[in-house]
Amino acid sequence: MRAVGYARLFAEGRPVVDRSDETHDREEVRGPAKDQAGEPDLTGIDRRSFFGVVAACSLGLTGVALVTPAIASLVPPARSIDGKTKIGALAIVAVKDLPVNKPVPFEYGDDEVFAIRQTGDKVIVLSAACPHVACKLHWDDAKQQFACPCHASFFTLTGVKLSGPAVRNMDPAVFTVRNGTIVVSSIKTA
Ligand code: FES
Repeated sequence: MRAVGYARLFAEGRPVVDRSDETHDREEVRGPAKDQAGEPDLTGIDRRSFFGVVAACSLGLTGVALVTPAIASLVPPARSIDGKTKIGALAIVAVKDLPVNKPVPFEYGDDEVFAIRQTGDKVIVLSAACPHVACKLHWDDAKQQFACPCHASFFTLTGVKLSGPAVRNMDPAVFTVRNGTIVVSSIKTA
């Protein structure tokens, strides 16, 4: 075969290169090991494959279990039928991460809430919408009060009205503390 091949290459005027002395150091490709009867032994491979699939499935399910609550906690709350109440659980912050007696604002859907950790780890959550006509309140740290930039209503740290045209206190949010994290479930907007 090799002689015929050489003759044909020579006749075609193509260079003849003899590679018969070259060593071939590529790894031999092996099939499955054979047992004493000469039959392929697939038992070990099947076992490894089986446990590999089981491990992959377990990791996948664990990942889904961990990621799903995280995704759910990021879904913005929906607005209720009256158009004024925003509902839907939204984890906003761990209580231990809040400073004491200093309101911290968090987004809740399109609105904002203030989470306030009081002395003794008591927590309250208030809507940041002014109860007058819903301008966004801010916390004045120097005066230790909430202030409305629109028509100058003022409120205490716990949302009690001090002065201004607002006719009621700040609106509280409904929330729970789950595993140390504040989860807001609804707020009423003005
Ligand atoms: S909206 Fe806040 S005082 Fe009017």
